[in-house]
Amino acid sequence: MGSGLGSFVDALEDAIPFSYDDLDDFHAAGVAGHNGTLYLGRVKGTDVAVLQGRVHYYESGQADAMKVPVRTLAGLGCEQLILTNAAGSLKEEATPGSVMLINDHINFTGVSPLFGEKETSRFVDMVDVYDPVMRAKFHQIADDNNIKLHEGVYIWFCGPSFETPAEIRAAKSLGADAVGMSTVPEVILARHAGMKVAALSVITNMAAGMSDEELSHEQTMANADIGIQDLQKLLISYLNIVSS
Ligand code: HPA
Repeated sequence: MGSGLGSFVDALEDAIPFSYDDLDDFHAAGVAGHNGTLYLGRVKGTDVAVLQGRVHYYESGQADAMKVPVRTLAGLGCEQLILTNAAGSLKEEATPGSVMLINDHINFTGVSPLFGEKETSRFVDMVDVYDPVMRAKFHQIADDNNIKLHEGVYIWFCGPSFETPAEIRAAKSLGADAVGMSTVPEVILARHAGMKVAALSVITNMAAGMSDEELSHEQTMANADIGIQDLQKLLISYLNIVSS
């Protein structure tokens, strides 16, 4: 769960919280809106683990900051990982408060959470990493609930400063639709660990240079609240479908 998207855990039944402070190598997130708790619970009979809060590459300069949490999920038997984040939009029609399903990404940082891995499995296939079957389910759910679900390519910038307008123009010409500072390292770790992956962005702002509003973390949090309702509906309906 990314910025401000923590209230999803209210939908869990019998949730047991584990503070990251009590879990080895789970690093508490140092960003407002990102606390650090692992919840284990259920939604309609499906076992669900929720990582509320993530650490970002920009917090320590370590691209593998989420290695242990992601591998813990895989070790617990999670088959599918659904990631959420807050992102800036490069598409005029995807306005703040809307939700975008990620269908591919561009790793613009040049770093990998798999640096230093020794096994041949480090050469992870990156085609269809955003699982087409999971994506189709999310579109079906969005249609059924009258939720406008955008779809597009997410580009990972390292942050913590926001992008420059020139960087956003460059990103647009590379084919990006949304920009953010997270998710891609977790996706790489999850595919390496054999989990299926889907990822959803709440659009919190138009990317740098695309609107007159000044970019700030406060604005990100305020607009995240708007998209959260739709996102929660999508997530809960998804879990209901996979458990039926
Ligand atoms: N850029 C990078 N990360 C973000 C943005 C953005 O515009 N909005 C929310 N997270």
